[in-house]
Order: sequence, then structure tokens, then C-alpha cells
Amino acid sequence: MSVASSALRALILLPCGFTALSSVAALAQPVPEGPRLRDLADRRDFLIGAALGDNFTSSGMGASTYAAYTTVAGREFNFFTAENAHKFGRIQPSLANFQWSVGDRYDSFARSVGAAFHGHAFVWYKTTSTPPFIVATTDRDELLGLMREHINAVGTRYGPGTIVWDVVNESLQSSVAIAPTTDWRTALRPADTDHWRAVIGTDYVEQAFRFAATTRAATGQTYRLIYNDFTNESLTNKSLAQYMMAQDFLARGVPLEGIGFQMHVGTGTPAYNSIRTNFKRLSDLGLDLYITEFDTITGSSPAELDRQAAIYHRTLDVALRNPHFRAFQTWGFTDRTSWLYSWEGNPLGADVRPLPFTTDFAPKPAYYAIQDALAYEQRAPAVVNGDFEAATLAPWFAHADPAAALTLGSNRPRSGASSLAVRSRSAADGGVAQDILAALNSPGGGAGRHHLAAWFRVPAGPTPVRLRILLTDTAGGLRDFTVEGVTGASWHRIEGWVNLTWNRALVSATLHAETPGSTADFDLDAVTLGDGNLLANSTMEDPLANWTTLGSPTLSSETSQARRHYGDRGLRAANRGAFWQGPAQDVRAALLASGPGVYEISGYMKSAAAGDNGKLTVRLGAPGAHIHHSVARTVGPDAWTRLSGTISLDWPADAPPASALFYAETSAGTAALDLDDVLLRKLTATAVPPFAAWLALHLDETQLADPTLAAPDAAPLGEDVPNLLKFALGLPVATPADSASLPRLHAASAEDGGLRFEYSRPAGSPVLVGVETSDDLHTWEPLVVAPVLGPGDTPGQERVQLPLPTPAAPAFPSSAMRVFYRLRFSLP
Ligand code: XIL
Repeated sequence: MSVASSALRALILLPCGFTALSSVAALAQPVPEGPRLRDLADRRDFLIGAALGDNFTSSGMGASTYAAYTTVAGREFNFFTAENAHKFGRIQPSLANFQWSVGDRYDSFARSVGAAFHGHAFVWYKTTSTPPFIVATTDRDELLGLMREHINAVGTRYGPGTIVWDVVNESLQSSVAIAPTTDWRTALRPADTDHWRAVIGTDYVEQAFRFAATTRAATGQTYRLIYNDFTNESLTNKSLAQYMMAQDFLARGVPLEGIGFQMHVGTGTPAYNSIRTNFKRLSDLGLDLYITEFDTITGSSPAELDRQAAIYHRTLDVALRNPHFRAFQTWGFTDRTSWLYSWEGNPLGADVRPLPFTTDFAPKPAYYAIQDALAYEQRAPAVVNGDFEAATLAPWFAHADPAAALTLGSNRPRSGASSLAVRSRSAADGGVAQDILAALNSPGGGAGRHHLAAWFRVPAGPTPVRLRILLTDTAGGLRDFTVEGVTGASWHRIEGWVNLTWNRALVSATLHAETPGSTADFDLDAVTLGDGNLLANSTMEDPLANWTTLGSPTLSSETSQARRHYGDRGLRAANRGAFWQGPAQDVRAALLASGPGVYEISGYMKSAAAGDNGKLTVRLGAPGAHIHHSVARTVGPDAWTRLSGTISLDWPADAPPASALFYAETSAGTAALDLDDVLLRKLTATAVPPFAAWLALHLDETQLADPTLAAPDAAPLGEDVPNLLKFALGLPVATPADSASLPRLHAASAEDGGLRFEYSRPAGSPVLVGVETSDDLHTWEPLVVAPVLGPGDTPGQERVQLPLPTPAAPAFPSSAMRVFYRLRFSLP
């Protein structure tokens, strides 16, 4: 019994409209709320890293500090570097005297926690990296020999698990006058400050890269070779010199493969637009990009911590939007140790506090900023003419089946006016395809998790169908990402997530829709590849496009820092006349193409009123008979608040909702609200497995008091049913044919201060029953968990009687003060 009811509780707590993240109590111990950074980064094939400081042993740090330090590091990061231990003078302080025992601690720690390692750095002008035997070497060939031997020894030892090496660090001057016509070498550090340059000459940088590539090839390593520097991220003379150096190196075959931006941003605020442009011109050359040593000088007041979080957030977001960005790494991770405390020019002393964890390893706002930026995915749709609504077939072509005839048809399209008919087929495994290389290479395309979906119909009957993405990369690999299913004569949706990854640059990318092992004719419609977001202009970057209003607020596209979240613009709704008014978007067509299921809904909000109650809603149905599916959270004027959760959007195949509207609102009716970066996307096709049917009761106070209400039959969504039962729908699990074997609600009533549901169920199948309640806006909460009902010997009417608690007054203002209950049947 207890096992069964806990199973039921687990079932009922599955996503169906509960507000996520809204009421998690503050934890006594400093384990951050939400997902771990490394899990979020893994999911999008990204590296989130930190430098590990000196004295990296239990005795060096003290046992308890070391335990906390390694626990937090291993828990949060998938990428590490040694802050100092791999620098030239540390690892080889005198000729051939390698300090492996210290150096090995860092990369072996990374390996022990399943993280990648970042080598820092082979060649650097600083004293710590030019030990006395190097300074004493004044012959070019001799110094080149020492450089080569050093790179060979260190690059051989720290190869396995090391995925990138800073080959040269900081060889460019910070302030130098340079023009596109100047030789970039004039921007190198002058010989009197850089021993490598003084002795070897201006080619020392490329020599180091060539030595590193030789070592890599000889040892079969795969790490990438990058140039690392500071103040090289925005558009400056220095970054122009760096860009010209990169162009020159690539043109001459110098094995430069990426750029590291240290981004010790100091007390300033990064020039985001400028760094975005600089990042792009470098990635357009085919280079990988890394932020390698991020920290900020901010202080510790609440306002300073918020400002710091905003800088972390926006910088990481700019990086994540460039598909060639591989890593975001901070220089340390706890304020307990930072080089900035002793750095020259430290303006704040002990109050610098540059990193995402406090001195006691508690997460700071900057930590949540990283978490939030990593969690957010925004991808441009990659498929062109996926709905087959264009007047042409392009860019689709017949693939591996040259005889196949492709025609656009209006005969029972799944959505819109037209679908694709593939006929006269002769080659099994063939089908249709389109080139998606440009889309994956565009900003917002890129490697990572993509949602792939399409509707198929096979008139001849059940046949396997598949969607497939084939990639080839410059490393020569063919990569296959497939989503499969079986489809018959009615439209069926094939969908799934694919984690697209490739090595170096993409050479080709095609998307295929086909029937493996069969030459059956098929129809295709609504092919999508992207983040699965049903909302158009969800980033608000395209001023007001696609947005309309519920009620009559005034919409404006805002560009000021406070009114935009990610990107350059946010959406503001002012002059709201009532709580329910706000920005809205019609999602009916997109939702019908996508089909019933569990959807993720999220967005960022601000309200002009402090302590306001914000809500994001999908409203289904016809006027007067709307069903609202919402997530809610307290929002205010100062910081952006992320609202997120999952909602079940269901309808019978033959009764799709007459309307579907996404909108944002707050309980303070006249307060202006800001909205940005919204998402509505399908997570799973089955509403709540093994969810069989649900019914919603719409009660008002007088009805609740009336014990004699009749029991109407189930009614389709949106139809106004007199009396107690307002909305009801039966939801088949798999196909409509199955619905006869599902439980069915016959009656619902309120009697003796309780709720009574009468239902029938198939013989032999146990039924789990739960009741959920919501206020007028349908944020469903579990109310009662009913006993598990065992298999009945005879099919027929059974009933469940539940006490009816006094509904709590809705937190959100409600025009009708109605309360909804629904009975959830589940087949275990
Ligand atoms: C710093 C370390 O953090 C200090 O502990 C050390 O005393 C000096 O070097 N750019 C770099 C890093 O590439 O190697 C520097 O690290 C910080 C600036």
C-alpha cells in the first residue's frame, strides 16, 4: 500500500502544470538550487571550467578546505586548468628538471572527476615562464631548441584528457597604433620586455605553434592549439592585430586553431556588442573560441553582487550564441582564493570577490547567472520550407531514389494548405532530403541538442519511417543521428532530440525523411529541426513582430539595458487595464502541428510593481470555455525573474482547440510588465505516461453547495456543458482504437462535503486515481491521492469518494473565483 501510494504520488507529481522553481526552500548547506553547471554544459556540448589554484593538496590547503574545494569543483565543472603549475618556470625551473609530481595533480584530478583539461601555457613572456636557464640562452637556435624540447615534454605528458593548450600567452601589446595595412608584427611586445621575441625574433609565436603540432602528431594527441591573451575580446587595436595575426597564420598554414580570451574584466562592464563582433570575425575564420580566465572586480554589497551576476550572465550568453565557442572558464571559482587579492592595482582589497562562489563555497548570484545562461537554448529553425507551404519544392530533393516523384499536394495536408507526396518509389531506404549545412553553421545553429520532428503518413499501411541527419566533418567522420517510428494511413508524428556534435568544421549536413527497408509511398508535413520553440520572435529581437495583446495594453520594443534580458531588445506592455492583460501570441497553428503532449514553458519577466505575481499561460479553447495552463512566480522591478515549468496540453484527435493563445500577465493589473526570451516547446508526446484520461470539473461556490447535480457525459474540449461538469475530455494513450479499453468517467458530483467520481474501467486493470485542483487559471496542484484500486473482477461502475477541502483563496485575482478539480486516471 505504501509503495503503491508513493508510486501514485510520484505519478501525480509528474509534470502537469506545477510551477517549478517557485517555492524551493533555502537550503542550510550551500548546495546550489537547480541543475549542476556541468550537467547543463554537457547537454549543449559546452565546457564550463575553473582554474585550480596552487597548493592543490590536502596539506597545502588544509583538510577541510581541500575537501570542500574538490567537492565543489568536481560537482560543478567539466573543465579545469592549473592556475600556475604548468607554466614554463614552474614545470621546468631548470634544464630538464620537470616538476611532474606537482603538475600531475591537476590533470589527474580532472580525469578523476570526468572533466577535460586545459593546458596553460607553453610560452609566455613573464618571469614565471622564463626561468634563469631560458633567460641565459641568447642564441636563436638554442632557444628554439629549448622551446621545442619543453613543448615536446609537457605536451606529451599532458595529452590524454587535455583537450586544449595555450601555446602562446600574451605576446601582443595592449596599446599600439595599428591599421589593417600595418604588419601585425609591429604589435608584438617589444624585445626589451619579451625574451622570446628578443632572441628568436617575431616568428617565435608561429614556431611555438609548429612545435606543438609536431608533438601532437607524434604522440597521437588531439588537443587544440590556441593563442591566449587579455583585453583581446573587444574591437581594439590589439584585437585587430590579433585578427591579422590569425589571418596570416591560417593563410600560411601555421596550426593556430583557436583564441583564448582571458577576460579579467576588472571594474568595467564588457562592451558586449563589440566583443560579439570580434568573436564573430574570428570564428568566421574557422577558429574555436574560449573564455579562459574570467573574473570581475565588483565587491560584496547586494547591488554589486547583482551587477556582477549580470556581467557573468551577459558575457556567457554572448559566448553561447556563437556556435564556435567551446568553453567558459573562470580564474578560480571561490572568493577564498583569487589572484586579484594580491594583483597590482587591486582597488578594493579583500572586497574584490571576483568569482561565483563565496569564501565558504556558497553559490553567489553570479553562480545562478551562469546556470541560467547555460540552461537557455535558442536556436534558429534549420529546415527551409519544412511545412511545404512555399510555391516550390525547393530545397527538398529525392534522395537515393532517383525515380521517385515529389509533388506538393493539398490532399489532406497535416497542417496548412499543402504537404509533400513521395510516389513512384523504387529504392528501399530512399526518400527526400535537404541540405542543412548553412543553417547549422549560422549563429544560433550549431552543435548541441536539437529537436527533430515531422508528420508522416503511409497510405499503404504501417511502415517504419525515420528522420535522419547525416553530418561529415573535417576530421573525416560520418555521423548519423536518427529518430524512428512506425506510421500508417493516418498522420503520425515522429519526433525526438538529437545531440548534434562534430569534429572541427562541418563539411556537409543533410536532413532526410525516409522509409527504411520499404518502397512505400509516403506523405510528409511539418518537418522541424530547432529548439522546438513554438513561439515566433521569442527573443523579441525583431521589434514587435508576431506579438499582439490580450486586452489593450500598449506594446513597445525596448532597448535599454534594464528592459532587455538576452540580446538587444525586450518587450514591454504598459497601460494595462486589468490583471489578465499582457503581451500575447497566437500559437494555435504551431500547437496543432506539434500535437498533444507535455510542454516546457518559460520566460523572463519584470513588473513595475514590487512583489507582483507573474504568470505565463497557454489558453486553449473557445471564448467562455477556456482552459488555462500556467506557470507563476513572484516578479518585481529590479531583477529579471525566470518563470518556468511544464504543462500538459491535451485534446482529442477529433476536437482540436478552437484557439490557443500564449500570454503573460501579472496580478498587479496596472503595472507595466517586461517580457523577454520566452519558450514553449514539447518535451514528450505522451501527456503523462501512463496517463489515460483526465476530466476537469468547473465548480463555483453555489454548485459546490448543491448535492443533487446530475452527471453529464464527457464532453469535448471547449464545449460548454451545463451543470457541474464544465469541461471533460477523454485522452487516448496511443491510438483512438485503444480508448475503448480506457477508464471512463460517468459522473462527478459534490455531496456530503466531498467529491464523488463514478467511472468504469476495463476488467483486470488496476487503476490509480488522483485528484488535482487549480484556481481559475489552472496551475494544477495535487489535492488528494486516492487509494490504488485493484483489478476488478467485473467491469462496471465504480466510484471514488474524496473529502473536499475548503479551497484556498487563489493567490491570483480571479474574476469568477471558480475552482477546478480534475480526476486523473492512470494505468500502472
Ligand atoms: C596569474 C596567477 O593567477 C597568479 O597566481 C600568478 O602569481 C601570476 O599569474 N593572465 C594569465 C594567467 O594568463 O597565467 C595569470 O595568472 C593571470 C593573467
